[in-house]
Amino acid sequence: MSTLRIALQTKGRLNTDSITLLEEAGINVEDPGRKFLTRSSSFPVELLYLRDDDIPQAVSMGAADLGIVGYNEVLEKEAPVEVVRKLGWGACRLSLAVPASADYDGLQWFQGKRIATSYPKILRKFLSENGISASVHEIAGSVEVAPSVGLGDAIFDIVSSGGTLVRNSLVEVYRVVESEAVLIANPSVHDDPEKESDLKRLLFRFDSIMKSHGKKYLLMNIPNDSLEEAIRIVPAMRSPTVLPLAQSGWSSLHSVVEEDVLWDKVHALKEIGAEGILVLDVEKLVL
Ligand code: PRP
Ligand code: ZN
Repeated sequence: MSTLRIALQTKGRLNTDSITLLEEAGINVEDPGRKFLTRSSSFPVELLYLRDDDIPQAVSMGAADLGIVGYNEVLEKEAPVEVVRKLGWGACRLSLAVPASADYDGLQWFQGKRIATSYPKILRKFLSENGISASVHEIAGSVEVAPSVGLGDAIFDIVSSGGTLVRNSLVEVYRVVESEAVLIANPSVHDDPEKESDLKRLLFRFDSIMKSHGKKYLLMNIPNDSLEEAIRIVPAMRSPTVLPLAQSGWSSLHSVVEEDVLWDKVHALKEIGAEGILVLDVEKLVL
């Protein structure tokens, strides 16, 4: 019997969000403690905990069938893996940053400089495309401290909130690549019928979670005279649910709306007599 194995980041920016996604998809994730391989008790998967840098290779070599990792690592490692889904979180970019005290005046500033990074391939490609000759110093971690200890004049690294740069008196001067968390797969997963069918079930759950983002569930009481107008305001996916209230002449109307238009809809519904409007989070959405 073949079991899907998913590689996750042990610690770091994407660790907690990866676990949240799996748990929302009904996959119990026990605290791995000192173990690096665990099995979920609620879904046939094994979880392999690795450094994010090692995840693309683990998947391309088949040590794991799937991986949740930043697209930045997939790009850098040039791993022959399939990007199955962009997950819509873990947004960050790979940027050039210089000491706050530098007299930065544009990309030409980097000519002849030493740049510390954990992303040498992406950086070299960018420098050559822009005709900049700078020396690239590869370091595995804590890139942000490099300039202060004389290990480089500038850095090229992941920026998410920007907090790490501020703490190290660095300023982001050029965004090179945008990234987010992605689900990657070893293409051979499709050849194993058992794994393929578990992957389909998993993707169905991930997609339902992603579709629910930015959606709100709305319920309200509405005078029957205003029902048609209310249905035009909040048409829902197929059509809203309408239930009669015990008090005659009134109905209860349930619908789903996009969060960014929520307040416009609420004002419009108030104007046609809606009362007791309740807004709830949507946790999953199966279409
Ligand atoms: C990245 C990067 C910085 C941090 C930036 O590390 O190396 O340390 O995130 O985030 P911030 O702008 O929100 O402060 P990551 O978690 O990707 O793991 P890494 O240590 O493997 O680089
Ligand atoms: Zn890393």
